[in-house]
Amino acid sequence: MAVDAIPVTEQSRLSVHQVLHRRKDEPGALLPILHDIQDELGFIPSDLVADIAAALNLSRAEVHGVITYYHHFRSTAPGRHVVQICRAEACQAMGAEALFAHAQEHLACKAHHTTPDGSVTLEAAYCLGLCASSPSIAINGEVHARVTPIKFERLMAEARGQA
Ligand code: FES
Repeated sequence: MAVDAIPVTEQSRLSVHQVLHRRKDEPGALLPILHDIQDELGFIPSDLVADIAAALNLSRAEVHGVITYYHHFRSTAPGRHVVQICRAEACQAMGAEALFAHAQEHLACKAHHTTPDGSVTLEAAYCLGLCASSPSIAINGEVHARVTPIKFERLMAEARGQA
């Protein structure tokens, strides 16, 4: 289940406007802006899409279209831990799809969703740079190699235990 969108705080609005001010005049600014906002806030608040569109002279539909086109971008706040499972070629050859299916079952959470307790957001990634040690996953940006279903469960227990 996805975590509901949270109200935009003044701090979030300020952060977005700082990113817009810094980047809006760059060529092809939309993608870097969306990356910066997500890096800062963890997601791109839907309530601020209009501000992004206005700053770039685009329609809200255009900005929304880009956000929804790329799986990387989130419109809702992520869980406390973001788990990315690599589904690119080398990892697929080493069982990434079975690992992904196991992860969804173990967490009771579909891809691009967050567990009901808000602890984990499960996402796909397309190469984490550990192709020689696949299948690979990242937990909050920290990569783990040769992840079996058992290792996945252990890593999740550790991550959630630290929450
Ligand atoms: S293909 Fe999975 S880490 Fe490169």
